[in-house]
Amino acid sequence: MITLKEISKKVGPRLLFDSVSVTFNSGCRYGLTGPNGAGKSTLLKIVMGIEEPTSGSVSLPRKVGFLKQNIEDFRNFKAIDVVIMGNKRLWDAIAERDSLYEQEMTDEVGIRLGELEEVICDENGYSAESDAEILLNGMGIPSEMHQAQMHTIPTDRQFRVLLCQALFGEPEALILDEPTNHLDLESIGWLEQFLHNYNGALIVVSHDRHFLNAITTNIADIDYETVIIYPGNYDDMLVNKTSVRERAEAENKSKDKKIAQLREFVSRFGAGTRASQVQSRLREIERLEPQELKKSNIQRPYIRFYPPEKPSGQIVLKVNDISKAYDGKPVISKFSCEVAKGDKIGIIGNNGKGKTTLLKMLAGVLTHDTGKIELGHQVQIGYFPQNHNEVLDKKSSMTAFDWLKKRRDGVYDQDIRSILGKMLFSGDDAFKPLSALSGGETARLIIGGMMLCNYNVLILDEPNNHLDLEAVSALSWALQDFKGTVLVASHDRDLINNAATKIMSFEDNALRIFDGKLDEYFSVKK
Ligand SMILES: Nc1ncnc2c1ncn2[C@@H]1O[C@H](COP(=O)(O)OP(=O)(O)OP(=O)(O)O)[C@@H](O)[C@H]1O
Ligand SMILES: [Mg+2]
Repeated sequence: MITLKEISKKVGPRLLFDSVSVTFNSGCRYGLTGPNGAGKSTLLKIVMGIEEPTSGSVSLPRKVGFLKQNIEDFRNFKAIDVVIMGNKRLWDAIAERDSLYEQEMTDEVGIRLGELEEVICDENGYSAESDAEILLNGMGIPSEMHQAQMHTIPTDRQFRVLLCQALFGEPEALILDEPTNHLDLESIGWLEQFLHNYNGALIVVSHDRHFLNAITTNIADIDYETVIIYPGNYDDMLVNKTSVRERAEAENKSKDKKIAQLREFVSRFGAGTRASQVQSRLREIERLEPQELKKSNIQRPYIRFYPPEKPSGQIVLKVNDISKAYDGKPVISKFSCEVAKGDKIGIIGNNGKGKTTLLKMLAGVLTHDTGKIELGHQVQIGYFPQNHNEVLDKKSSMTAFDWLKKRRDGVYDQDIRSILGKMLFSGDDAFKPLSALSGGETARLIIGGMMLCNYNVLILDEPNNHLDLEAVSALSWALQDFKGTVLVASHDRDLINNAATKIMSFEDNALRIFDGKLDEYFSVKK
């Protein structure tokens, strides 16, 4: 059981939550929802003690597992070590012990080693490797990958390793922040099954409606500067939330009406003889005081990619027999295709099939081993990478405004402000440092950069990761409306179905191109 008591949190000038008291019970699976920037990740960090609340307290069970999002940070570690890192006290002790053994032995070092051995013993350090192996095997990670470095194993398996890390030491509660971002439909199905069998208290942040509906028993929704727990799954919450809000609004309206009538009485007879009646009416007015209804923070960005200043030629890309291998392992083999002006191509396929590799080569940020890629006349490509860090340093103190301004020479400040406003960075939000931006805010800023530059070809790799539902639908509409050419890879069926009129699918070992929408593709495939 996790209990939050009167938690408030202010970031900069903004109040994210005001005196929130909620309990997350064992055996329940909570979806933590709310639009981008609502404070979901912040709340989880407060629960985990990584960030301090402005006021209030948290009580936790002894062991809580937390799924990290930053696969990149672990790329040079062995899978098995990444799992053991799930017990930070143990991992730190082992690391310090190993480094001490490399130093000259002094009395001081000897004493410290003794202390460390005690910690390691206390934390079951001697069975850590075998415990970690049991978890990895249980997650379907073949034993030859256990000792491999993370970056050499497929993305979805890396994610499973991080999940093992969260589960290391049998946590009584499990906290997951957007676990489906890097997963294909098959792996999401696997995760759903897995979570159904978990017995502790589960809190999971996700913008994936299907996933939330499949696994949650309750929804904790962040809105109106508070957290409200609704019974049922995501769709149930939407219905409940609307009716709770409508009821509160109706109640306020009838109170307003009543108060107006009482005021009228008071102003008419206030100076007269009915003093006691006036007093009781005044008391009644005070009692009725309608509760102040906080505004909802759900907002929709205005995404539109303006017609390119210079249209491209009729042929945008000519790809001839390209191949690419990593460390001798082929990922793309002799692939050819032609992309015509105005094509809207949706790219689908399971994890690890090479979608990102292909898009990077087409966008010109990765070289191919053999074959040829020819760009058409006046082609200008805007690229949205799967990993935001490739275009924007998430650790930087540069502001959102400055980052955007650097994207285009000679652009006026008012044009930057206008795009930032459309991307929901209003007022001082424009001057937030990149390091403060939430996942969804970062994605919105990158999209803003693409809007600013009037590209005639857009290449987007999983742009919907991190974005809330409002933003994803705004994006799919914008891609549909765009007068240029689009290549977009995504696991989001709605996005691909709305935005793409051609499908490029990675099936088994072949890349197939289908002329039609995703729904048609699936109906033909069956
Ligand atoms: N140092 C800071 N200064 C100003 N604002 C900040 C700072 N740190 C965080 N914020 C803001 O706090 C808000 C909450 O961020 P958080 O990462 O918790 O959002 P989230 O709900 O997880 O969003 P997402 O769905 O995009 O992941 C965001 O608007 C973020 O920009
Ligand atoms: Mg977040």
